[in-house]
Parts: sequence; structure tokens; C-alpha cells
Amino acid sequence: MNPIAVILSRESKPATCNQHTMNILITGGTGLIGKRLTDLLIEKGHTVSILSRTKKQSDKASFYTWDIANKKIESEAIKNADIIVHLAGANVGEGRWTSKRKKEIIDSRVQSGNLLFQTVKKHNPNLKAFISSSAIGYYGMTTTDKTFSETDKPGFDFLANVCLKWENAAEQFKQLGVRTAIIRTGVVLDTNEGALAKLITPIKFGIGSALGSGKQAMPWIHLEDICGIYIHLIENNELEGTFNGVAPSKDNNEEFSKTLAFVLNKPFWFPKVPSFAIRLLLGKQAVIALEGSPISSKKVEESGYEFRFKELKIALTDILN
Ligand SMILES: NC(=O)c1ccc[n+]([C@@H]2O[C@H](COP(=O)([O-])OP(=O)(O)OC[C@H]3O[C@@H](n4cnc5c(N)ncnc54)[C@H](OP(=O)(O)O)[C@@H]3O)[C@@H](O)[C@H]2O)c1
Repeated sequence: MNPIAVILSRESKPATCNQHTMNILITGGTGLIGKRLTDLLIEKGHTVSILSRTKKQSDKASFYTWDIANKKIESEAIKNADIIVHLAGANVGEGRWTSKRKKEIIDSRVQSGNLLFQTVKKHNPNLKAFISSSAIGYYGMTTTDKTFSETDKPGFDFLANVCLKWENAAEQFKQLGVRTAIIRTGVVLDTNEGALAKLITPIKFGIGSALGSGKQAMPWIHLEDICGIYIHLIENNELEGTFNGVAPSKDNNEEFSKTLAFVLNKPFWFPKVPSFAIRLLLGKQAVIALEGSPISSKKVEESGYEFRFKELKIALTDILN
């Protein structure tokens, strides 16, 4: 971890008296967001358990397993949870979107949500909150000047459909009187994993350029802030509903790529990579790279969350230097 992140993590305040320490179960807690969230929650004095497809040894968290397709789950995981954070899901950016892969992308989020709901209903009458990930793909992958906010309707494409089903699965928890919150997440920035690791490579080789028109918005969020928003929703028990998880700054793909090249001290003069080449390379998934509209962070800020990284250059400098 870089030194600034270490300092920031040291600064994360322990849970105060009115924020009792809690047992938090994280599905997909082995992923990019889950690993960092686990560390931050433990630093704050909470106890973390992870629900995973495979049992792992850890001195930080207890591991429980589930087999979503066969509706099997270690119910102990659920019985003791005060809060469930649902992050599990097949990676949308990996593998071509064949019909098999599309089904996996949906089932890993929706069948898993249903299994959690049925198990909580049976085994945990005291669950305090269910906090689920969703994605900004909810609004549809289109390039417009409109800034989307939480009250906007879902789009009509594959990712919008995934997010709608994912959110509907989470919202079942309201039937049980459980506080339910959803975070529509933007592109999470971290050095080692996720989209940034892929975007850096051509720039490091000095062949950085914008993708497609370059005008498509790139709503991003620093890993520390997305974890910060999860903690904000975990610890503030009056907060519920849907929140966009994106930084306040609005950058399009060209601005993003230029800033990345600047922070890496690399040239940025190659012509834009034409859309057809990206479509050839990625297939239908190319839409993730080629389309995007600005997304508002106003609601989460008004709920009291203070971003640590509001500006792209500062976020990238923290992550990369
Ligand atoms: N990172 C981003 O930029 C971003 C942006 C928008 C939304 N999100 C959403 O936020 C959530 C967490 O993101 P992340 O970046 O931490 O994800 P990640 O690194 O891809 O990790 C997700 C976890 O989900 C579990 N998983 C993977 N495939 C699965 C499958 N087929 N069935 C069930 N579980 C599966 C894995 O845990 P086990 O191997 O332990 O089971 C994995 O560690 C995801 O749902 C993601 O879609 C992320």
C-alpha cells in the first residue's frame, strides 16, 4: 500500500459509543473492494466474516462458504450477522459476454441475493441492515451530457437489466423490515486490480490515447472512498435507499487518459483508438469502454459523506506515486 493510503487508513476513526461494534458479513469479501473494506472495518473494531465460494484461511476474518447454484450456504454465516454487505458477482469486465457468461453475471448477483434473503428469513430475525452493491450501468451505457441521479429510471441494455434485477433482489429485505441500502458504483480506482490496471498499460508504453470519441464520461471513485461510503452506510442507521458511488469530479475518457499520462509522466499524443477496433477486441463488452454519461454524487454528499478524493489528478497521484 502506498504511504498516503497508510496514513489515511491510520486516520480512520474507531467506531464510537453510539456506533456499536458489529458482526459484518461480506459476500465476495475476497475481491478488490471486499479486501480493503475488511481491513478498514477491522481497524474500526468491527468483526468481519466472509462468504465465499471457497474456504480460505485468514487471521483477520472467519470464512464461510456457499454454493449459489445449488442453494447451499453455511447458515452459521447468516445467524450471527448484524449487517450483510453483498459484493459478490462474476466480474463484468472479464471474459466475452456469451449467453453463458451473461447468465453467470446475473445469477451470481441475483440468485445469491435470493439465497441470502431466504436464509435470513429463516435464521436471522435480528439482521439490522442489508447493503448491496449495484453499478452505474443501471442508467444504461449511453453517452449524453445529462447528469444521472438516483431518481432517474433504469436504461434498457444488458448492464441496466443486470443492475435492475440485482437491486430488486436486494430490495426484498425491506419486506423483513431490514434497513436496505444500495450503492451504484462507478469505476473503482486502485493500482493492482480493476479497470485502472488495464488502462495504465498502453500509457506506460508511451502509446496512451483516448478510446473511441473520448467524449464518453468516466465516472470513477477511489478505492478508499467506495469503502468509506460502505462504512458510512453501515454506521449510520438512519440511511437507506440508493446512493451513487462516484467521485464529484466529472471527467470524460479523453480527460481521464490525459490526466493518467500526466501523472505517469508519459506522452499523450497518439490518435484516438477507433471504436470499431475496441469492438473487435472486446465484442459487446466494448460498451463499457466506449459509452458513459456523468453521474451525480450529490445525494451521498448530502447524507454526510465527505470524499477524500474529489479530483482525478489528486486521486491518481495518490494511487500511482
Ligand atoms: N470494481 C469496480 O470498478 C466496480 C464497479 C461497479 C460495480 N462493482 C461491483 O462491486 C462488487 C465488488 O466489486 P469488486 O471489484 O470488489 O469485485 P471483484 O474483485 O471482481 O470480486 C467480487 C467477488 O465476487 C465473488 N465472485 C466472483 N465470481 C463469482 C460467481 N460467479 N459467483 C459468485 N461469486 C462470485 C468472488 O469471491 P469468492 O471467490 O470469494 O467467492 C470475488 O472475489 C461487484 O459486484 C462489482 O460488480 C465494482
